[in-house]
Amino acid sequence: MGASWIKDAIFYEIYPQSFQDSNGDGIGDLNGIIQRLPYIRSLGCNALWLNPVYDSPFKDAGYDVRDHKKVAARYGTEEDLLRLFREAHKLGIRVLLDLVPGHTSEEHPWFLESAKAEENPLSDRYIWTSNAFCGGDGMPFIGGEHPRDATYIINFFKCQPALNFGYRDIHDPGWQMPIDAPGPLATREAIKDIMRCWLSRGCDGFRVDMADSLVKNDHGYKSATMEVWKDIAGAIHREFPDAALVSEWNHPEQALACGFDMDFMLDWGGNGYNQLMRYYQLDKQGNILRDNSYFKAGADADISGFLADYRYDEWKDLGMRCLITGNHDTKRCAFNLDDTERRLAFSFLLTMPGAPFIYYGDEIGMAYRWLPTKEGGYHRTGSRTPMQWDGSENMGFSRGREADLYLPVDQKGATVESQEQDPNSMLHYVRSLIALRRTHPELGNESPFAAYHMGKRLFAYRRGDFLLAVNPGREEEKVALDREYTVVFSMGPVALEADTLRMGKQSFAVLKPEK
Ligand code: NOJ
Repeated sequence: MGASWIKDAIFYEIYPQSFQDSNGDGIGDLNGIIQRLPYIRSLGCNALWLNPVYDSPFKDAGYDVRDHKKVAARYGTEEDLLRLFREAHKLGIRVLLDLVPGHTSEEHPWFLESAKAEENPLSDRYIWTSNAFCGGDGMPFIGGEHPRDATYIINFFKCQPALNFGYRDIHDPGWQMPIDAPGPLATREAIKDIMRCWLSRGCDGFRVDMADSLVKNDHGYKSATMEVWKDIAGAIHREFPDAALVSEWNHPEQALACGFDMDFMLDWGGNGYNQLMRYYQLDKQGNILRDNSYFKAGADADISGFLADYRYDEWKDLGMRCLITGNHDTKRCAFNLDDTERRLAFSFLLTMPGAPFIYYGDEIGMAYRWLPTKEGGYHRTGSRTPMQWDGSENMGFSRGREADLYLPVDQKGATVESQEQDPNSMLHYVRSLIALRRTHPELGNESPFAAYHMGKRLFAYRRGDFLLAVNPGREEEKVALDREYTVVFSMGPVALEADTLRMGKQSFAVLKPEK
């Protein structure tokens, strides 16, 4: 198992385009992130996840990598990235880059070489079918664009051809290869090489994009994809014992068993994470028709939907399952949750096991905005707007011209500056939650969790021998206590009686046992 530093890691995710522009071109950059490291530290976060910063045509915001070893010119230079690692480390902050192992840009030199009619060492780097009129065996494919007499499989958008890690169930041996064929094995080595390149220069690990989808026709248990990761993660952990790997997988019993240190709980469909915060239906105009998210005051849901999918006992001995406040793919939590509802959601997320991930700007309640698509963002674009720092030009994000900004700033939105000055702000609340987690090891990443009591809306849970309760609803609910406690942290109307905890409307409490 990998890095020990993740035991007390609290992450902050940065979408580099939109965090801080240091040179006035309207787009965020690495020097801008370096300038803001003290702010991130002041929150109590000690780790970063940066969305891709590599050279790219940016048809999917950088998830279409053109050169894995080159920093995109708009973000700065390789030296800037190495300086970011160094400056972050000086402040005790670790840095995860984003690894996109499953596909590249269609402009990547590997792909251009692979697309040539003549056979060459990269012919099998991507998944090509047997001729230009062949379908993709259930996978999306593109044909007619290149001299090679074949179609190729894509992983996501049209610009993202799938790298070849092989097939588990081979339906057509004419073009589908087993995972241990020379082409797929060489792809694995190429991914290890990219990881070594950045880890040897000061990067602390990777968030791994679509980690579950490397091997094709690997339905069900994902045994072949797990075998590939056992090899890749095994080699990386042997060579870089302090490297952390966090997977976009959403099946911790698989991801953690094949070498990942942490796995995200993702916002898919109606799953448990969505039921906490994003369980709404929209009309065609994007208005919320109905919202039964657990943290919505007017909802009628209890927390059972979340717990059924959280399955703590199935993964607790393998590593961490990480909860996010949101990310660059989700609608921001301020889309549907008001200030009080968000405080309760953060109270829960920041007192649960696993390393928490805060999406930049969620700590000040940045809004989701309906905006025209940018760089393949579509509905995700509205969660990717510039960070709101202060009341200066472009809200402190950039001294560039308004027309040049990556996305428009939210002139009506809260800023870090305004919330710093208000002791009752969300920003201060988030800081106090992080400080609470840091003060009490019982609330830490690896301390045990157990459900204690589920009411109509209320949920009480244990972390170590601490007892916590959250009541997102509008009516008071009670928890019968098993011993004597004192309240170490609370929000809203909370009353501790001899053997009962009374949790009023929209409240949260952390109880410590009396010695
Ligand atoms: C997941 C990433 O989070 C998302 O932003 C990206 O578009 C897809 N994977 C494709 O790489």
